[in-house]
Amino acid sequence: MFKQQVGVIGMATMGKNLALNIENKGYTVSIFNRTPKNTNEVILNNPNKNIKPYYTLQSFVNSIIQPRRIFIMVKSGKATIEVINCLIKFINKKDIIIDCGNTYYKNSIKINNKLNKMGFYYIGAGISGGEEGALKGPAIMPGGNLKAYKLILPILKKISALYKNEPCVNYIGKNGSGHYVKMIHNGIEYSNMQLISETYFILKKGLNLNNKQINKIFENWNNGELNSYLIEITKNILIKKDKNKKYLIDAISDEANNKGTGKWMCKEALDLKEPLCLITQSVFIRYISNIKKQRLIASKNLIGPKKIYKIKNKINFIKKIQKSLYFSKIISYAQGFSQLSKASKKYKWNLNFSNIAKIFRSGCIIRAKLLQNIINSYIKNPNIENILLTKYFINITNNYQNSLRDVITFSIQLGIPTPVFNASITYYDSYRCSNLSTNLIQAQRDYFGAHTYKRVDKNGIYHTKWIK
Ligand code: 6PG
Repeated sequence: MFKQQVGVIGMATMGKNLALNIENKGYTVSIFNRTPKNTNEVILNNPNKNIKPYYTLQSFVNSIIQPRRIFIMVKSGKATIEVINCLIKFINKKDIIIDCGNTYYKNSIKINNKLNKMGFYYIGAGISGGEEGALKGPAIMPGGNLKAYKLILPILKKISALYKNEPCVNYIGKNGSGHYVKMIHNGIEYSNMQLISETYFILKKGLNLNNKQINKIFENWNNGELNSYLIEITKNILIKKDKNKKYLIDAISDEANNKGTGKWMCKEALDLKEPLCLITQSVFIRYISNIKKQRLIASKNLIGPKKIYKIKNKINFIKKIQKSLYFSKIISYAQGFSQLSKASKKYKWNLNFSNIAKIFRSGCIIRAKLLQNIINSYIKNPNIENILLTKYFINITNNYQNSLRDVITFSIQLGIPTPVFNASITYYDSYRCSNLSTNLIQAQRDYFGAHTYKRVDKNGIYHTKWIK
């Protein structure tokens, strides 16, 4: 029987597009989906492709050349685990399973260990870029056995996005590291999206600009240091009209959903003791957005500021907003990479941060011009704990921090919610503060619980009898 070179499981949009991407790069592909409907649709809509449908997992597995390279692109969690558990009944030793879903990294570690013990290879590959990325070239973050990675590298290079001819794929590290990096990517994605939304709100509610005017501002910003995929799509979103020739954005409900990857990163931050305040706020504001009923009642009962603040020089103020967005965006990447650095130590992954930032340059949702500066910082010193302590970022933040203060003051005075902008300046001020107010926390802890404290003037641990 003539066998295929690669297998893809999961024929929803992402899996279908990934299969087409692989086929477009010259590979023959076997496909399988839990329900035959999707499989049939792929075949029907894509005639004359080297894609063969299979309707049982066993026949699908048997149709692939050994050692098999099987990409899984099904819903993360239960569905992925079920597919893998079925798959291992049919595959052979040294076959490679590439899990491309947003698998929780702890599950990724478990699956990796289980499969390795059985003699199979598992690559937990974070994939970013949405539907288009899957088809035309995503950013790929593969973690797992290095030998297995090398075996699939030629395919990964061909199917991934390119940044100036450099494939956006690099080996991340052992076991769950690939999915961990994808989780970090998604957290940064959340905060960047939220920062752009807050910017839009200030321009709309604070400066009374319309969609077209805001579109022009984003278009202009996209030509400079803020250049990024998320700014690009935002400018397009703002001028999209629906059937009634009205701006679609004005008809979209403010209740924002999530699939949990941002939440995972926040939970992990708490465990690692990482002050991940921008991303946590980005998750919280989605939660607030979902208590719509309460918000509607609150909007009628809880009042905001009375004063009307007018900006005299709008052009100048828009420049300040631009700087605020770039400043906060920097803090968001800084926090993401700082968490990654802690995780790398905890899990002994020995992550290469400049290589990870390189992957993000094309194909993924957080691709942005700013990444080149992050890469440069890590190339100069691979061991930096926080990019905010490097030359480029010190200069920018020093120059831009006052703009953010003005923008936030304006928003607060108008009652415009900007939780992530606020978190950004608060983090900045806390981070640069050599003596925080937390000396008082220590005193209070010692007062009520004899938890002890350290002193600034001498070494050792102290306890005071606060009440005579
Ligand atoms: C990507 C995205 C993607 C993610 C969606 C939805 O890199 O292509 O991160 O993996 O699932 O963006 O995420 P939420 O539903 O949690 O917003």
